[in-house]
Amino acid sequence: MAYILNFFSRLGYVALIRQVVFLFTPDAIHNYMVLVMRRVQQYTLYRRMSRVLYGVRQYPVLQQTFHGQLIISPIGVAAGFDKSLELRPLISTLGVGFMTAGSLTYAAIDFAKGEKMYHRLRYTRSVAVRAQLRAESVEVALNNLKKSTGEDVEVPAIISLAVSGVTVDWRLREAVDATKASLELIAKTTDVLAVELHIGCVNKQGEQPFCAPEGLEELLGGLKNIAINVPLYIKLPSVEEPGDIAPILTVLMRHNDRVSGVTVANLRPLESVMVDPRDDRPPRVDAWRISGAPTRATSTEIIRYVYKKTNGSLTIIGVGGVASAQDAYEKIRAGASLVGMFTGIIFGGPALPAHVNRGLALRLKKDGFQSISEAVGADHRTS
Ligand SMILES: Cc1cc2nc3c(=O)[nH]c(=O)nc-3n(C[C@H](O)[C@H](O)[C@H](O)COP(=O)(O)O)c2cc1C
Repeated sequence: MAYILNFFSRLGYVALIRQVVFLFTPDAIHNYMVLVMRRVQQYTLYRRMSRVLYGVRQYPVLQQTFHGQLIISPIGVAAGFDKSLELRPLISTLGVGFMTAGSLTYAAIDFAKGEKMYHRLRYTRSVAVRAQLRAESVEVALNNLKKSTGEDVEVPAIISLAVSGVTVDWRLREAVDATKASLELIAKTTDVLAVELHIGCVNKQGEQPFCAPEGLEELLGGLKNIAINVPLYIKLPSVEEPGDIAPILTVLMRHNDRVSGVTVANLRPLESVMVDPRDDRPPRVDAWRISGAPTRATSTEIIRYVYKKTNGSLTIIGVGGVASAQDAYEKIRAGASLVGMFTGIIFGGPALPAHVNRGLALRLKKDGFQSISEAVGADHRTS
């Protein structure tokens, strides 16, 4: 029964709802959806109906303990989907095991208010994101987290912090200090599963200083002496070849007392991917970065590289182009413990995570794994 409901929910989304949603610009529809969802998610009846409609089921084989907390599924929602943690009650109804909120900054940043931030590439199955940072403050998100806790709203939240310069005369030191201040705020909250440092966001000059080993060293060195009571993750940039990530890994391994893991990987530059010729390209006013299908293979190969290079000592959260159970399973077998989705949900609808859970549980059974943890990095043990 759950499968049939899930099937019709997905069909209804792709055949009807998506057709209407895609008539609007991604920026407009995003704002509108947040407005509507903020209201309807408050009703217990709506949340119950949503779970039934999406065919959400729990699979014991998908459960794992992640930094001491029980996670019901390795599938979660990636950063950017719910930037200020407003939609946690709604996301809790999708059957996901975690959500990443943000990216956030200590003080809110609105570089490009009113300007177009997103561009849909329908045939490429991707969203182009303007490489300009816009972020809500950590304080607002933590308040939303506190407000949304309780009853059936249980999905654990990872907080993504955008590490970037916030003033025109940007200095490395300021970004490190802002990150420190954010971490100190988070340390006062008990409900945060982990913190993810989004080192790939650009500063006002369009640079990514923390993706360079020296910048990352300065950042992690600056965080050395502050008390952090949550695991720290670093979101890695999507590099051309997996081996290009080696210099960053060297820095991370030097700080492995502080850094628990990595999120692999971020958006790719627009110029580095093949865009379907039927899609309009975004305007050339700025640098754009790409999500979804074109990121899938590269991200999986970087996961494989990181797992092998570090002997599985860094926990990996895999993101990039996951739109099916098979996509998620490939990332898990390559070394990911958790898998985040974003663009897949835009194109496949809110019932997709429940469908991916089912497909994952079937694959684990077929391959003889008793638990999801046994499958993490399995490719490295068979080849
Ligand atoms: C519209 C949009 C906004 C995003 N915003 C953020 C963000 O604020 N911080 C971040 O770390 N990643 C952000 N991402 C990147 C996603 O977290 C994810 O790494 C990327 O989209 C690849 O996953 P996907 O193919 O499942 O979308 C954003 C992605 C999209 C499509």
